[in-house]
Amino acid sequence: MILSIESSCDDSAIAITDIKTKKLLFHKKISQEIEHSVYGGVVPELAARLHAEALPKILEQVKEYFPKLKAVAVTSTPGLAVTLVEGVTMAKAIAVALDIPLIGVNHLIGHIYSLFIDKKETQFPLTCLLVSGGHTQVMEVKSLTEIETVAKSMDDSFGESFDKVAKMMGLGYPGGPVIQELAKDGDRLKHNFTVPLHQSPLIAFSYSGLKNAVRLAVLEEEKNEKPEFEDIAASFEHIATKHLTMKLKKYFKTVRPKTFAIVGGASANLYLRSQILELLKPHNAELILSELKYCSDNAAMIGRVAVEMYEKKMFTSLEELDIAPRSLL
Ligand code: KG4
Ligand code: ZN
Repeated sequence: MILSIESSCDDSAIAITDIKTKKLLFHKKISQEIEHSVYGGVVPELAARLHAEALPKILEQVKEYFPKLKAVAVTSTPGLAVTLVEGVTMAKAIAVALDIPLIGVNHLIGHIYSLFIDKKETQFPLTCLLVSGGHTQVMEVKSLTEIETVAKSMDDSFGESFDKVAKMMGLGYPGGPVIQELAKDGDRLKHNFTVPLHQSPLIAFSYSGLKNAVRLAVLEEEKNEKPEFEDIAASFEHIATKHLTMKLKKYFKTVRPKTFAIVGGASANLYLRSQILELLKPHNAELILSELKYCSDNAAMIGRVAVEMYEKKMFTSLEELDIAPRSLL
């Protein structure tokens, strides 16, 4: 079995995965959303302190598995430096105490493998859209070690733009679920926000301009005695999604999708899912998704990658395993 740890942002999680069957035997996550909500975003130092409290609590619950562990895996890149270090330090301590190898996992590859949690087989090749709080990118995934990023954001990410819009409206953190909920009662066409990079031939993403346009609309709405944000939320969600589908449509002109996946915390967005499904129809491409509970950060996905890395003996020594806040992907 492999014990895996995730602490790259604001979720402390530990999983136990069976190497042979790839079955998830244990998973526990303690989220810090409530603690960060008052600040409208993740405060790194607070997150680190909460990890230092939560991770040992969860570890206590998996002690019975210790004699059966063959390796310990941990997210080592990308993420917040001060929070990554909490997981990596714990993983190193376990590796020394139990004399087992260490596996450093890339969090973004973890999100890709969230598609295969509890499943014996993987499904490659696939084209994968990763939409999270930190990343917005399209990857061609042939295998664990053959992953090519073909498009990425030039500034903010899809998920982060939801967080910022929610913050502007005073709706706390994380913004994705609240904006999605608010948007249900709104008119998607009420605010004619410009689709980012719509005139650019680049296959890339950008959310800073849209965020600013929404900010101005929120300020305007706040002049009313009883401001109502449903239409702004709906129009924002529509344009944020349209930006993704327009760029993907362009990309599909050269690379036809066969199997397409959406992963990452924001892949839980139902409007995004429905729009991508429409886009894939003419290509007869299959859409695969993670279970809703594994879209956001978790340790089960880190464990699922780790069993593959274990079989390939992709270990990192104690001295070499270090945190890398920025990913190479
Ligand atoms: O993957 P994740 O848990 O953390 C990172 O690796 O960044 O993603 C969290 C992000 C947050 O920005 C959150 O607002 C967004 O995913 N998110 C959503 C939805 N649910 C979560 N964004 C849009 N719609 C949602 N339903
Ligand atoms: Zn993530």
